[in-house]
Amino acid sequence: MQFFEQQLDDFFSLIARTARERRLIAPPAPSDAFDMSSNDYLRLSRHPQIHAALKQGIDLFGAGSTASRLVAGHRDIFSELEEVYANWVGSDDALFFANGYAANVGTLTAILDGAYAAFTDRLCHASLLDGVRLSGARKVYFRHNDLSHLEELLSKATEKKRIIIVESLYSMDGDFAPLPALFDFAQRHGALLYVDDAHALGVWGEDGQGLAAGHWGRADFSVGTCGKALGLEGAFVATSSRVKKYLIHNARTFVFSTAPLPAIAFAAVAAIRLARTLAGERQRIAEVATFLRAQLKRLGYSTLASSSQIIPLLCASERDALEKARRLVEAGFYVKAIRPPTVKESRIRISVNSGITLDTARRFITALERL
Ligand SMILES: Cc1ncc(COP(=O)(O)O)c(C=O)c1O
Repeated sequence: MQFFEQQLDDFFSLIARTARERRLIAPPAPSDAFDMSSNDYLRLSRHPQIHAALKQGIDLFGAGSTASRLVAGHRDIFSELEEVYANWVGSDDALFFANGYAANVGTLTAILDGAYAAFTDRLCHASLLDGVRLSGARKVYFRHNDLSHLEELLSKATEKKRIIIVESLYSMDGDFAPLPALFDFAQRHGALLYVDDAHALGVWGEDGQGLAAGHWGRADFSVGTCGKALGLEGAFVATSSRVKKYLIHNARTFVFSTAPLPAIAFAAVAAIRLARTLAGERQRIAEVATFLRAQLKRLGYSTLASSSQIIPLLCASERDALEKARRLVEAGFYVKAIRPPTVKESRIRISVNSGITLDTARRFITALERL
């Protein structure tokens, strides 16, 4: 097909011109470099208890689930996991999806339709944007964390059905949404509130329960993923039992997809139980992140408004970000350059996990000073 060949030619010449080719490269072994780029915040992907649970789960339930949960793919372990999760985050109930992308797209397309206006923070994750787009709702972007802009847009909206969509902790900038204020806001403007808690779960909240459904704020829907601090894969939508029932009927990524491995659910129960006990790890992550941010500022780097374990180290250009990342990897710190179109300003995204000590952080700063 000539037209498709042309499409490919155009694409490959664009990425060659802009030096934006993406390559699939496995990270170095943990013994060769410190992981400062994954979302394995509590190091549970490497925890022997989680490995053992996953193996035991396979022995108990077999490999694949073999069908959608509505056909032959359901196992009681999924319901048990949903109960354990809901109990952790303090919600009425929860529904388990294969991953966070499927949870966001499936839930948003099930809730919204053309009668809705969806007020979405500019920095929301692609899965949230795609969910809104597919739903047919009118997408209205508000400036990142700017409540007066949100208020202005809400007051102009003619739709009676409204939803505000945010992340509790932004995955690329590392700053927090003003959740308590947003909760009031949503109530005042008669809007639903949807919070993606992917990067806060396990790391923030007294018990690691995240920010959305805990005592910090309350949301109509919150999404937590297993692929980050819980070291596995899968995701939850925490909501009421009535809404859960609605989603079981209407979330197409749930209905029309093979259920995740039951062994993942079994291991996720173990991961949640373990994560709840890791207050010391959470404290260390916060201490190391505070240290790194202060040192980066001392060296003259902007870290935007980060106040979490995710620290953007802004770079002068895409080339600068790539070069710095390359040299930091050579020095034994596995970091990645994040560039447009993923973000507006090229950066190195540092993510602090519980395996990084203050001593490692000091050595990272020394390596950066040497560049
Ligand atoms: C904020 C946010 N939401 C959702 C997702 C998607 O989750 P998953 O990787 O489980 O599909 C991600 C990460 O990829 C994310 O950063």
